[in-house]
Amino acid sequence: MKIPKLQIGNLSANIPIVQGGMGVRVSLASLASAVANEGGIGTISSIGLGDLEASKQEYERISREALANEIRKARSMTDGHLAVNFMGVLSNVNDLIKVSVQEGIKIIVFGAGLPTKLPALVEDPSVNLVPIIGSARVAEFILRTWDKRYGRTVDGLILEGPLAGGHLGFSVEQLERPEEYSLEKLLPEILEAIKPYEDKYGKKIPIITGGGIYNGKDIARMLSLGASGVQMGTRFVCTEECNVSRQFKQAYLKVKKEDIVIIKSPVGMPGRAINNRFLKDLKIKGKLKINCPYRCLTACKVKTARYCIAQALVNSYFGDVDHGLIFCGQNAYRISKITTVKELIQELLSGLKEA
Ligand SMILES: Cc1cc2nc3c(=O)[nH]c(=O)nc-3n(C[C@H](O)[C@H](O)[C@H](O)COP(=O)(O)O)c2cc1C
Repeated sequence: MKIPKLQIGNLSANIPIVQGGMGVRVSLASLASAVANEGGIGTISSIGLGDLEASKQEYERISREALANEIRKARSMTDGHLAVNFMGVLSNVNDLIKVSVQEGIKIIVFGAGLPTKLPALVEDPSVNLVPIIGSARVAEFILRTWDKRYGRTVDGLILEGPLAGGHLGFSVEQLERPEEYSLEKLLPEILEAIKPYEDKYGKKIPIITGGGIYNGKDIARMLSLGASGVQMGTRFVCTEECNVSRQFKQAYLKVKKEDIVIIKSPVGMPGRAINNRFLKDLKIKGKLKINCPYRCLTACKVKTARYCIAQALVNSYFGDVDHGLIFCGQNAYRISKITTVKELIQELLSGLKEA
């Protein structure tokens, strides 16, 4: 079997695998460039690169410079395809999108918020705009709005299902019935919703599915259902190229299925994480002290928030996992070793060929 390529706009990746953007600092230059070097699309996360103790101006300057540095570093490590991931709830999201475009990034992935103004912000048609969605209703809304307001359509969509790691675009109640919102159920609805826009704009809109994709067999199943590629996060955390601390990776290796839980995040969305010491202590304490000179998230209600999510994620990144939140996908408990991106991709592709 020939491995299908993944076409996004005029870019063609040799393999249909996108490494999903992972904040805070989980997917930076090292991981993204390694994936791009294997023929996939590597995504740098733009989230949480500032200094949480800095003033607004300083925070924004540090974030801008840090993102530009990660993009340049990744570029120096690969000629492959790189994307940058953004969350609509970030206070400085527009600023960071501009930096990415200036630094030559050709794939902008936008989640956690509706990208209604994205085409106005990124006018260069050579930059591919790829929103993350969780339902046909949201896909239709974005497609209709962009068509009416800007006379353009998306260059791809990432359909993230309920088994993914990090923040999730489903309510807690919906997440209790994940089978009702499975990728297998959602994908045909999305494929139907994009048809009129594919016809109108005379182009294929690739749908990339993510959330719980674990092996080559899963990738084959998604491709057979009409996806153009898959987005994977969790499996890339346990690679040597991923920048997170040893303790973060160890938590993945140790976690049991029943310790993977849904939390209510201060971002205002549910998220999936490991029920570690931090979450257990938080349950007892109820609320932690927050020092927030810069409001990094528009959606975070600092007065009532139970903890600072940015600080909790930074703590885990640096290895203080007892005071940190560890996001993971539903399948994290299946990972048993740390590998390299090369080995992981080889394993996925041989599973895909077999399937
Ligand atoms: C540790 C972690 C952090 C994540 N952070 C983000 C993020 O900042 N923005 C985003 O759009 N998705 C984020 N995600 C979701 C991934 O990009 C990806 O879509 C998802 O992990 C796919 O599901 P999987 O983990 O089951 O492979 C995160 C996932 C993980 C595991």
